[in-house]
Amino acid sequence: MEITLTQGDITEQQVDAIVNAANSSLLGGGGVDGAIHRAGGPEILAECRALRAAHYGKGLPTGQAVATTAGRLPARWVIHTVGPVHPDPREGAELARRTELLASCYRESLRIATELGARSVALPAVSTGVYGWPMESAARIALAEVMEMGRTGGLDEAIDEARFVLFGADAYGVFERVLQELSHGPMVD
Ligand code: APR
Repeated sequence: MEITLTQGDITEQQVDAIVNAANSSLLGGGGVDGAIHRAGGPEILAECRALRAAHYGKGLPTGQAVATTAGRLPARWVIHTVGPVHPDPREGAELARRTELLASCYRESLRIATELGARSVALPAVSTGVYGWPMESAARIALAEVMEMGRTGGLDEAIDEARFVLFGADAYGVFERVLQELSHGPMVD
């Protein structure tokens, strides 16, 4: 499995599955969620509502993921995952718990992508917008988890490309630096 980075709009990615940074209601929102529902159309929301009615009456728990159609998007599926809100920095134990939940968003999204037979997956920087997670920390959690799954999660033969789609140059630069560091060690200037 190749991990790639690109700067752009996740709704324009030509991949099999697009991961949505949703909220537990699964009923849409702003950011990535708003962009995906706007571009993908009402079929996505209809399937989200059906999932709420059938399995997630209280909402999709943080760290979990579910798949729906991608509607009019160039992908086949949208995988909705709910990221954690970044906690108050003084709450150390809570930060550790929510760090694991953020890692779980990626682990569960890629697990579902594998079950669907998706060969390429576009991933946003979950929790780094409305949910306030610092980009560097989120990049480290996301990349470490996806790299680990590539090594041990049996994804190598299942998924060809995990593509992080970053919405601005700053976010892209952070992910690029962290990926370099996790892949080859810190850059020595
Ligand atoms: N393509 C790629 N990345 C995007 C796009 C897009 N079209 N739009 C926004 N982003 C980036 C943001 O810049 C941020 O870095 O995605 C990252 C995640 O931001 P949010 O979409 O705000 O998601 P999150 O922080 O996980 O908050 C989720 O926001 O939109 C609501 O309904 C959503 O309540 C949920 C909450």
